[in-house]
Amino acid sequence: MTSSIGVFDSGVGGLTVLRAIRELMPALPVIYLADQANVPYGVRQLEEVRGFAIEITRYLINQGAKLIVVACNTASVAALKTLRLEFPEIPFVGMEPAVKPAAEQTHSGVVGVLATDVTFQGEVYASVVERFAHGVELLQSHCPGLVSQIEKGNLEGQETRAILENALHPMLEKGIDTVVLGCTHYPFVIPLIQQIVGPKVRVIDPAPAIALQVRRLLGSHGWLVDSHSPAEVRFITTGNRETFKRDMPIFIGETFGVAAAHWQNGRLI
Ligand code: DGL
Repeated sequence: MTSSIGVFDSGVGGLTVLRAIRELMPALPVIYLADQANVPYGVRQLEEVRGFAIEITRYLINQGAKLIVVACNTASVAALKTLRLEFPEIPFVGMEPAVKPAAEQTHSGVVGVLATDVTFQGEVYASVVERFAHGVELLQSHCPGLVSQIEKGNLEGQETRAILENALHPMLEKGIDTVVLGCTHYPFVIPLIQQIVGPKVRVIDPAPAIALQVRRLLGSHGWLVDSHSPAEVRFITTGNRETFKRDMPIFIGETFGVAAAHWQNGRLI
């Protein structure tokens, strides 16, 4: 049985997760929705982001998605619990900052976490810290403006570098040896982060682990696609179709067609 999965984010960030899913399961049909009309999510209220996530999920299910990947830490913090209650028949995969592997791997005992403000405020973050960060000092930065620079395709320019240096230099002074990327946009700037922190600091991109989790869940539902020929990916944006299409090669190395969805009175059509 060929089942599409739905993947969504506020914008291009979820493409880091999509990339990992495609590497692992190229034959899996995917519908990717970028809510670029509302990006960035990280500066909004939890309730507002939750509302977006519920409606996007409904939309993706109507488009044929059988499993939903909330490829956005901010939306996961704001809505994952509610989504599981509202759509009990749908399996969900969400994001949470990879504090557990970081705490297991750090030698210095000091770990930097980069995520949005909403992610740091939510109970999901408090819970991973409480469960996994014993004896580890976590230094947090919400990297103001970084998501917007990445949305613009500015992965190595001066503004992006300045935001990252402001976040990472104080952390380096305190001895971090590991950086957790708690926002799906940030893996696009790993080369720049690595330049700033140096080769000895480990940077954790959660996307490969998420792709494995998607495969496990598909397998447990008998939905794994038994083929290697690449499947279709349908891209939808609530923002500007042309811009998304134009910038796609910056993020995933190739271009696909992009369809439009529009918000109207809280509904996506
Ligand atoms: N990519 C998102 C995340 O993982 C959202 C960033 C934003 O829109 O602020 O948190």
